[in-house]
Amino acid sequence: MTRVSEDRRVAVLAALRASASGVSGEHLAGELGVSRVAIRKHIEALRELGYGIEARSGEGYRLLSSPDAPIPLEVSPLLRGSFAVRLEGGGVTGSTNDDARDLAIAGAAEGTVVLAREQTKGRGRLGRTWASPDGGVYTSVVLRPEVELPDAVVLPLVVGLGVGRALDRFGVDALLKWPNDLLSPDGRKLAGVLLEGLSEGWRVTWVVAGVGVNVRETPAGTPAVSLDELAGRRVPLAEVAAAVLDGVGDAYEAWKTEGFDRLREAYGRRAWLTGRDVTVSDARGNVIATGLALGIDAQGRLLVEDASGIVPVSSGEVTLRLG
Ligand code: BTN
Repeated sequence: MTRVSEDRRVAVLAALRASASGVSGEHLAGELGVSRVAIRKHIEALRELGYGIEARSGEGYRLLSSPDAPIPLEVSPLLRGSFAVRLEGGGVTGSTNDDARDLAIAGAAEGTVVLAREQTKGRGRLGRTWASPDGGVYTSVVLRPEVELPDAVVLPLVVGLGVGRALDRFGVDALLKWPNDLLSPDGRKLAGVLLEGLSEGWRVTWVVAGVGVNVRETPAGTPAVSLDELAGRRVPLAEVAAAVLDGVGDAYEAWKTEGFDRLREAYGRRAWLTGRDVTVSDARGNVIATGLALGIDAQGRLLVEDASGIVPVSSGEVTLRLG
């Protein structure tokens, strides 16, 4: 679809939203400067996206219902910030990180977003699969920070913090398990973050920040929790997507203008691991450090105190030491 046609579809939907009693095809055609046949095609396309639109002869079109889906037409009007410059998708895809990576390689601007409510090949950290059942919010954003690699290492934490703040909108307490898992206070996984990128030498070319939130369902077999359960209500998927995009955008902009210091303090206030006994392992299961988690340092490393002193850990999988 061309940009102009896309804008017209947005305008048709806006007109339907604005008029509870309905609006005639003739009026819409006049307002948008297109034929009534073109309006009918837009109405058909909106129905295919899940909008319930009644057509009454002589009275025109009336919007009866909107889809519960993180599609651009639903997410866009809910955005508070201007970070997301282009929204794509919203249905079923393999992995939004793969889609956003393809767009980044093709030159997509910072703030380009891919959305999905289900993924068939969702990917998690450390080469794992990320179960992405229908009724979730899966989104990936193209970032183009003008920094060198060592300065970008804190980005996963910045994005995780942005998601945590976003979920505040729904009255839930989302805590951060280093590096960037989001957990309920009782330690069940609510959301995850996966950053991937490319550099030219040390200069970062693009980063794709992927976020997955369990909204309706929780993946089987893991200690996970859904946003619906924590919020105590059915949260519309478009609201979750808009909140996440605003939250990530705000945290990212704050990092670009102010650096990591203040964000690090904010991260610390949500840090789920601090004060707990932990073991950190690498992707093969080799233990890197074991001891008391103290917090994170200015480079975003987890500080673990063991018998030999304080060990800064830059990557790994953290488990709690029980007993
Ligand atoms: C993790 O906890 O291991 C990170 C999970 C990240 C999942 C998100 S869902 C959107 C984006 N697309 C993917 O394939 N993965 C990320």
